[in-house]
Amino acid sequence: MDAIRAGLGLIVLVFLSSTLSTAHPGFYFDWGGIGGNGGLYSTLFPEFYQYSCPQLDDIVMSVLEKAIQREPRMAASLVRLHFHDCFAQGCDASVLLDDGAGIVSEKRSNPNRNSLRGFEVIDEIKARLEEACPQTVSCADILALAARGSSVLSGGPNWDLPLGRRDSKTASLSSSNNNIPPPNSTLQNLKTFFGRQGLDEVDLVALSGSHTIGLARCVSFKQRLYNQNGNNQPDEALERNYYFSLTSICPKSGGDNNLSPLDFASPAKFDNTYFKLLLSGKGLLNSDQVLLTGSGGKTTDLVKIYAADEGLFFNQFEKSMVKMGNINPLTGYNGEIRKNCRRVN
Ligand code: HEM
Ligand SMILES: *[C@@H]1O[C@H](CO)[C@@H](O)[C@H](O)[C@H]1NC(C)=O
Repeated sequence: MDAIRAGLGLIVLVFLSSTLSTAHPGFYFDWGGIGGNGGLYSTLFPEFYQYSCPQLDDIVMSVLEKAIQREPRMAASLVRLHFHDCFAQGCDASVLLDDGAGIVSEKRSNPNRNSLRGFEVIDEIKARLEEACPQTVSCADILALAARGSSVLSGGPNWDLPLGRRDSKTASLSSSNNNIPPPNSTLQNLKTFFGRQGLDEVDLVALSGSHTIGLARCVSFKQRLYNQNGNNQPDEALERNYYFSLTSICPKSGGDNNLSPLDFASPAKFDNTYFKLLLSGKGLLNSDQVLLTGSGGKTTDLVKIYAADEGLFFNQFEKSMVKMGNINPLTGYNGEIRKNCRRVN
């Protein structure tokens, strides 16, 4: 039965793509019970733009190469942009919308304000793509491609990336405020935030491994240095010398925007050093360190496993990035392909 329906699905797909390809480049029919994430066919698939925009990969990678060469941190910023998109209203590029008619931008949310970056790089990729393949590639897919390319260009893993997301016509400031975990989260909080998105503890630990690259502001880790538990004491999980070096970057009052690497040993290299640092009490954010120290067992073991074996970390990171990228995408006739990622058409 499934085979028959699958066969029909293929016929319908071929028919639709031959008749509708100009009106809906890359159009794909979501075949009800068969389609959907984790189904026989995933709604998103890696070859989505194979015919409608064969230059896609080259364009994305050439813009990324220049941007990351100019500023290595940009790779980290772009990985984070995809995460903040997916956790608020799904991977629909809602995070890219500026304030405008009916839009309250997610850029103003607590996790994003004065922090999220990389928008100009996405704009540049989009502009190049609009020249090469007009109104074809969604901003949501550009975010996913930029995240993967940034991993690769920082020495991290590469993976087959399902594509075919469409762009939202709305943004949700409240979803951004309420669904992106804060840096002082407990392990239990983190599991709850990830669970809400259909992600488990394995995904939590692997994806937190993104903190092997990039920087954080003093305000994101200050509580740990001066008042971890409302007792005016530092977090006792912090290694002593590391703690002292952090206090010099991040004073008790002021300096909120001073920056510190999330992985001070190799801040621009995507590797498993992040996990090794956690083992020695040198994780920057509370949310990092609790993966090791929080009670619950499983995440502690995973930190140790990934610290010991980079290959296992990379392998799981690939899977978890695909899973995160599958959070609530818009497909079929839903949403649109924005011409400019900052506004709806
Ligand atoms: C587990 C829960 C997480 C928390 C609490 C968290 C929190 C944070 C915070 C507070 C910062 C620094 C922001 C600033 O101070 O301006 C940051 C940076 C970053 N986060 Fe996370 N994050 C989490 C998970 C993730 C995930 C799942 C990813 C990607 C898959 C990610 C990727 C990054 C990257 C790459 C940076 C560095 C960005 C840059 O340098 O511009 N984080 N994160
Ligand atoms: C995290 O920080 C917020 C804002 O400063 C605070 O209201 C909250 O109580 C903190 N949570 C924990 C677990 O310390």
